[in-house]
Amino acid sequence: MEKPQQITIDGPASSGKSTVAALLATELGYLFFDTGVMYRAVTYAYLKSGLSLTDESGISALAERMRIDIRPPTVDDKRQNDILLDGEDITWQIRTREVDDHVSPISVIAGVRKAMTRQQREIGLRGKVVMVGRDIGTVVLPEAPLKIYLDASAEVRAKRRYDELMARGSKADYEQILAGIKDRDQIDSNRKIAPLKPADDAIIINSDALTVREVVDRIKERFA
Ligand code: DC
Repeated sequence: MEKPQQITIDGPASSGKSTVAALLATELGYLFFDTGVMYRAVTYAYLKSGLSLTDESGISALAERMRIDIRPPTVDDKRQNDILLDGEDITWQIRTREVDDHVSPISVIAGVRKAMTRQQREIGLRGKVVMVGRDIGTVVLPEAPLKIYLDASAEVRAKRRYDELMARGSKADYEQILAGIKDRDQIDSNRKIAPLKPADDAIIINSDALTVREVVDRIKERFA
């Protein structure tokens, strides 16, 4: 295979998608685009808005209205990008437990998905991109030449998330994180629109026993 213009990486929460994709994108000189950030930004705006979760048209209108910008990092605090919502830096505000707990139900809303998918597809079609999410290979960029589905057991994913939070100095409880991950898996995989699943032509990689380097190398083997 020639060097693919688009590489999609889908998979469940904390499967290592973003870390793998960021390294791969740097090595290829491609844009790293984590679409989960957009659903998190909508969730953050929703939590601030006072809207009720049942107000799907209100939340969809909010998603249509908001301007989410993903830019190269301007602060040296381990962030991969600056995430801006209508000009406000929300890079870390979208990584809180409160956002974790609400993001899956918000991503189920059809109007939210429509607004996000349109913007994601526009960026993806420009090429030279490693795009990460749940439905990139199946819905957002089904024509991408290389599609990866990165999986890992819920326990390994919960441990990784726990370590990440501890490293940032946040409080963390492993059992609570594990339960949260299982809940999100359940919602993300069973929703009607664009559920989490591998595209028919996706390469499935289980990262339980692999390092980030090994996963990146397995992906690169496909076109090296
Ligand atoms: O990858 P993440 O944990 O940051 O994603 C947060 C949530 O966003 C995830 O639980 C489901 C949703 N999401 C989605 O529905 N579709 C995507 N392409 C990316 C994320």
